[in-house]
Amino acid sequence: MTAIAHPNIALIKYWGKRDESMVLPLHGSLSMTLDIFPTATTVRITPTRSADIVRINGCPAPAAAAARVTEFLALVRVLTGSDACASVETINSVPTGVGLASSASGFAALAVAAAQAYGLQLDRRELSRLARRGSGSAARSVFGGFAQWHAGSGLGAVGDRSSYAEPVDASALDPAMVIAIVDRRPKPMPSREAMRHTAATSPLFLPWLHSCADDLARMRIAIAEGDLTRVGEIAEHNAFGMHATMWAARPAVRFLAPESFAIIDRIAELRRLGIPAYATADAGPNIVALCARHDADQVSAYLRETSDNLHVQIALPGPDATITNGADR
Ligand code: PMV
Repeated sequence: MTAIAHPNIALIKYWGKRDESMVLPLHGSLSMTLDIFPTATTVRITPTRSADIVRINGCPAPAAAAARVTEFLALVRVLTGSDACASVETINSVPTGVGLASSASGFAALAVAAAQAYGLQLDRRELSRLARRGSGSAARSVFGGFAQWHAGSGLGAVGDRSSYAEPVDASALDPAMVIAIVDRRPKPMPSREAMRHTAATSPLFLPWLHSCADDLARMRIAIAEGDLTRVGEIAEHNAFGMHATMWAARPAVRFLAPESFAIIDRIAELRRLGIPAYATADAGPNIVALCARHDADQVSAYLRETSDNLHVQIALPGPDATITNGADR
């Protein structure tokens, strides 16, 4: 079974867990799934083998990535009562490990493909809960367009049932994201570890949780009203708040590079020139500018001027994660 999923960029970030093993967040988050950088994942049941096989972009997966996939498949096997191993082939068009949420599209695609391959009948909400166990942000990539991931309540199995993503009606907006890829080198610390370290050591972590709740409520209103300026202002504030919690961690975690700040400054200049564009950034140096679809070409051209080797790409709201052909390829 082959499934395709796309990365998402959060406008209200997820940064903090209340239950590590169930991947339950401390607060809700909200994102836009992109129409670029798909991940295609094929899962084949291999009953005669005694171990899973995991390949990424045609090569055996690095040990840590293979272990995460096997751990995820073990979960699926518990849900189905199967003990059959599987082979997993993933083709990732998003550069991995640079803060462009390859884990979101990766685990959304894996959840959809593995559920189908093992014969698990899951609705979209259940698929979102399953994808969440692989990587939190993957819960949102099960849905196209805008999606909100509910924190839910409780721990363990109780929390698990209450924490999933749902689509958000953003038809009043006509947004684009202009993605500026600063650096394709792997990041200094995986986001999972950085999140844990920030929650444990940053004095700004509690204020961050309060401000997230407020940002999310205001974001929902701004989206419903089709107010892109408010959406952008809240998203930028929220992203900077997340990075501030990391800066205040001991020792500090710094994902943004000097070039990231140069792009953030360009985005602010665009606003002074009368083009509404707002910055956001995940756990990496890349910067994403949120703007109106009709301004995307201009924003892209302006950001390209920041430096010669900057890769800039426009993304629009993308589709749901889906099975591509319903049959093995
Ligand atoms: O899903 P994870 O564990 O890779 O966490 C992703 C966290 C951020 O990308 C930084 C924010 C988000 O909400 O996507």
